[in-house]
Amino acid sequence: MGLIKKFRIKSYKAEETIVELKNISVFYNKRQIIDNLNLKIRKQEILGMLGPNGVGKSTIFNLITGLKDPDYGDIIIDGINCNKLPINERFAKFKLGLVPQYGGLIHDLSLLDNLKLVSEIHIKEKELREIKINKLISQFEFEPLLKIKAKHLSGGQKKKLVIAMSLVNDPKILLLDEPFAALDILTIRMLQEIILNLQSTEEISVVVCDHQARDLLNCVDRAIVLSNGKIIASGSPNEVISDKAAKNQYFGDEFNIN
Ligand SMILES: Nc1ncnc2c1ncn2[C@@H]1O[C@H](COP(=O)(O)OP(=O)(O)O)[C@@H](O)[C@H]1O
Ligand SMILES: [Mg+2]
Repeated sequence: MGLIKKFRIKSYKAEETIVELKNISVFYNKRQIIDNLNLKIRKQEILGMLGPNGVGKSTIFNLITGLKDPDYGDIIIDGINCNKLPINERFAKFKLGLVPQYGGLIHDLSLLDNLKLVSEIHIKEKELREIKINKLISQFEFEPLLKIKAKHLSGGQKKKLVIAMSLVNDPKILLLDEPFAALDILTIRMLQEIILNLQSTEEISVVVCDHQARDLLNCVDRAIVLSNGKIIASGSPNEVISDKAAKNQYFGDEFNIN
């Protein structure tokens, strides 16, 4: 798995479930997108969701955050059925963090002002806000970039900023929607390290999705492969790669991560 593995400090220990999607079905205009899906996300694991464009990865994130209601089934977070819990209450009660595939920052504000804005929403006391912002600046090595407007940052710097902004309220469940898309190899490596470091320094469960398998499998504990609304394979990166159904429907015969 290349260089990245040495940054992997530990794999998750707990087997406790933090999010459960139970018998979930979703339809758009009578077209079934998710078909009786069952998925458990464990505390403190990094779970990867793989599948082609349009398979329903973002929809699964929307189901967890409450942006989309399931047509059938239950969303259970930390043991509580959340089907009727509005988005804002879900974010606050379970400390959710979402890094959307696009956007997530204010282009005309500087990097520092973007961080300040989010911290003012989440943290009441000025002193605590400053402590949090300074911690993120040092963790993400933002010092030289503080005054640059978000629209002038590079793709990787923008992605780093949106991830940092999602950490302001110390999320317990972090959802990353295609964080590696359209980035160069070194930037992808940097983001993979950030994700792995989060797992070792914060008590956090991370779900990361992508349609490109290699970058994702290099930084997850466990992965699922989605096809036609269902999970067709699940397990460690090596297990899903050698899974027959996943090979047939997603990876192809030539795929490896070495
Ligand atoms: N608001 C919507 N209205 C109609 N169809 C939608 C809507 N949102 C998503 N879809 C459809 O649902 C499917 C899954 O979308 P999405 O979850 O965004 O896929 P992915 O993130 O895996 O690329 C796609 O076929 C998409 O066209
Ligand atoms: Mg998507």
